[in-house]
Amino acid sequence: MELKTIKKIGVLTSGGDAPGMNAAIRAAVRAGFYYNLEMYGIYRGYEGMIQNDIKKLDSKNITHVLERGGTFLKSARSEEFRTPEGRKKAYKNLKTHGIDALIVIGGDGSLTGAHLFFQEYGIPAVGLPGTIDNDLSGTDSTIGFDTACNTAIEAIDKIRDTATSHDRLFFVEVMGRDAGFIAINAGIGSAAAAILIPENKTPIETLVEKLKSRTKAMKTSNIVIVAEGGKSGSAQEIADKVKKFLPYYDIKVTILGHLQRGGAPTSFDRLLASKLGVAAVEGLMQGKYDVMAGLINHKVVFTPIVKAIVDDKKVDEDDLRVANILST
Ligand code: F6P
Repeated sequence: MELKTIKKIGVLTSGGDAPGMNAAIRAAVRAGFYYNLEMYGIYRGYEGMIQNDIKKLDSKNITHVLERGGTFLKSARSEEFRTPEGRKKAYKNLKTHGIDALIVIGGDGSLTGAHLFFQEYGIPAVGLPGTIDNDLSGTDSTIGFDTACNTAIEAIDKIRDTATSHDRLFFVEVMGRDAGFIAINAGIGSAAAAILIPENKTPIETLVEKLKSRTKAMKTSNIVIVAEGGKSGSAQEIADKVKKFLPYYDIKVTILGHLQRGGAPTSFDRLLASKLGVAAVEGLMQGKYDVMAGLINHKVVFTPIVKAIVDDKKVDEDDLRVANILST
């Protein structure tokens, strides 16, 4: 594709928010100003693009946002953008503002939108991986994943205190939708008795045997991490099944939920978001379109969006092995 002259870039965040999205927006906008580009904020993701909720940004908009969780551009999951009519409206609004390129920060659904839009209207777009789930290929870590894991671990540490005081068995459900990355990371980091992830089906008998063997080894508390959306069921469903095998256990369930999506980004996420924000602008200026910028082995890498969303990022089998050794 030939190199287009880019003067005005629209930035949006879409899908589930993630800590570090603000840092990524700020980096992209700062980089745009550095290269004398006009930068536009598209509010509420693709929904705002359809409803023309688009404003030119100045440096005041991005002051003191780097350290804040959430996204000041707000986020949404847009059903209308999935339709050709919705995308047509969005395109017209972009043209009204003279926006000639996009930086889309979000997960796989958001990047799919950017890809479709590029296919249909030729609007150059660079995607940034913004999701706590870490389920995108083309980057070692997504923006927000590290913060979410730290938040989960902090919460589980607190659960551990009370679990130990009462010799209880806790099932803690973490986010991740169809991906077990948060569960594995938080599970290893909080000395979990077992980790159940959506990618694998763990027979209830196997889990029960593990818990029995830990009781023999005189472990005073047991915490089982369950990733939501798993084949084995929700944390509550698994807890109910386990209760039938281990009726003497005092079992509790905690769902961490959306608290994992909030909070100030960690230093890792701030650095990742900052590097990728700059890379997005420079990528567009160099003619890298329809790609996602990610960090692999500390280096910026541009991966075609289709590849980043279609190639399933696999959980690291070695992490599961380590988790198993450490929980016996
Ligand atoms: O994709 C990020 C994520 O937090 C998932 O882990 C979770 O399943 C989903 O979003 C929750 O979405 P919502 O905020 O729309 O309930």
